[in-house]
Amino acid sequence: MKKAFLTMVVLSAALFAEQEVRHLDRMKNMQEMELAMSTIQKGFLFDNLSVVKNGVKDLKRTAQFTESFIKVGVKTKSGVNTHLYAKNQTDSITMLADEIQDAFAKGDKYAAANGYLMVLSKCLSCHQTIRSW
Ligand code: HEC
Repeated sequence: MKKAFLTMVVLSAALFAEQEVRHLDRMKNMQEMELAMSTIQKGFLFDNLSVVKNGVKDLKRTAQFTESFIKVGVKTKSGVNTHLYAKNQTDSITMLADEIQDAFAKGDKYAAANGYLMVLSKCLSCHQTIRSW
């Protein structure tokens, strides 16, 4: 009996730890995306294509972690398919990131800044949506 209880304690601690890790990973990924966005902005302001490229590369890499886009344990009121939603966000952020780089490389800074703004709106709209779920 005592043994069974102990096993349960150990098991739930392990489960809790796993959830904690996943949570941290998501936050870490979000913070990395934030850093990538800052790098892109820095590239704009210092007029430096390779800095923009680095930011775009980091943004595309971090945006691939679709799981981090899903708030664990949240069921949506309106029955939104969170996986599909997250996948769509990944795809459009990746596409926009390429557009930013292409526009900046061509010297069209205005179009590049516009692409940046569109990515930022994606970030904000998801945060807004997730809060209302
Ligand atoms: C499809 C959904 C989704 C998209 C798109 C998204 N995020 Fe998030 N973001 C989340 C979730 C979920 C959290 C955690 C919110 C919570 O748990 O309350 C979060 C939190 C954050 C945080 C806070 C992290 C912390 O440590 O508190 C930052 C910073 C962030 N996101 C940056 C970004 C940036 C930058 C982008 C766009 C490039 C972005 N996010 C796009 C879902 C998303």
